[in-house]
Amino acid sequence: MNKETIKKFRNIKTPFYYYDLDILNSTLDILKEESANSGIKLHYALKANPNPRILKQIADYGLGADCVSWNEIDAALKAGIEPSEIVFAGVGKSDEEIENAVKADIFCFNCESIPEMEVINEIASKQNRVTRIALRINPLIEAHTHKYITTGIEESKFGINTWELEDVVKKLKDLQFIQLIGIHFHVGSQITQMSVFQSLCSRINELQEWFSSRNAPLRVINIGGGLGIDYENPENQPKFKEYFSLVKKFIQLKPGQELHFEPGRSVVGQCGSLISRVLYVKPGSNTLFAVLDAGMTDLIRPALYQAYHKIENLTSDGKKLRYDVVGPICESSDTFGKSVYLPETHRGDFIAIRSAGAYGEAMASRYNLRPLPQAVFSDDLQK
Ligand code: LLP
Repeated sequence: MNKETIKKFRNIKTPFYYYDLDILNSTLDILKEESANSGIKLHYALKANPNPRILKQIADYGLGADCVSWNEIDAALKAGIEPSEIVFAGVGKSDEEIENAVKADIFCFNCESIPEMEVINEIASKQNRVTRIALRINPLIEAHTHKYITTGIEESKFGINTWELEDVVKKLKDLQFIQLIGIHFHVGSQITQMSVFQSLCSRINELQEWFSSRNAPLRVINIGGGLGIDYENPENQPKFKEYFSLVKKFIQLKPGQELHFEPGRSVVGQCGSLISRVLYVKPGSNTLFAVLDAGMTDLIRPALYQAYHKIENLTSDGKKLRYDVVGPICESSDTFGKSVYLPETHRGDFIAIRSAGAYGEAMASRYNLRPLPQAVFSDDLQK
């Protein structure tokens, strides 16, 4: 963030999310180039950030959408994403959501259970429309990330277990209004060990053989999302090239098969920062507290997942002191960072919490009846 931008922050009510659309563009440039080189289809996971302005830019780059509610599908459609590019995931899709999505004729439902398949079939039959599904399979792969965002192990509620697949394939024969087009996976989020994706590829290769032996052809292999970002170094772009080439190297696709991904965090994480003002600096027994006007209601990741976000004082360059950087909410978990070294910090200083473009604004709440944080875009400040 340059000095001119920071000067303009003075007229804006804090806390707010600041989105640098040039960063978003350069991330999308790399993502587009690397995915096109590898013949990969992308569905942006809206849950990371469904802000309409961000979504529009992503849609303009030609990405499809991965949605987990009808409202997300509606937002994707409004941003100009075609129904034929939209996938619908989620372990608990409601009847109403299914009805709407069948009517919209989306690309595919990522289906998580036999009961869900039955409901989709029934709803599709009422509309007399054959609907495409992919089976979300639990591959039993440890993602080596925070346990709350690990989704493909034995205790996970997500996906269909491999021991159910025989029944699934049998069941599909009776369900005339759904057509199986592929298989889908998502083992977790903020995955930084590439070997996790290698293990997933091996698992997919085994499953492919199983489906072939049952004469169930699969057109779509959907790897889900999960690529981690570098929270320590917000300037670093995600390692799309390494990620896509690893998957391409280890996955054995059959002729005519398409490889799909659902990136969320890696698309939007680095373009956003949460900007706040320091309300007070007060002494603790072993530390100094910098109390911000932003709290866990604006960015819940540190409180919920003990997540690290780089914290910067944008307006002081004094000598460095150690602070616990906290919010105003009456919960001890409302802490953005402990023992953070910042230039000597004063009331009124601007603090940036970096890499907050993903799962930041999207997860904000009105706890304590606080207002939701506003979004400010780099383009608007340049005017
Ligand atoms: N596909 C599916 C089926 C998913 O469940 C998710 C994320 C994604 C794709 C996108 O994953 P990504 O590329 O963003 O890792 N609130 C948590 C993250 C929850 C992720 C949930 N699923 C956080 O702040 O870390």
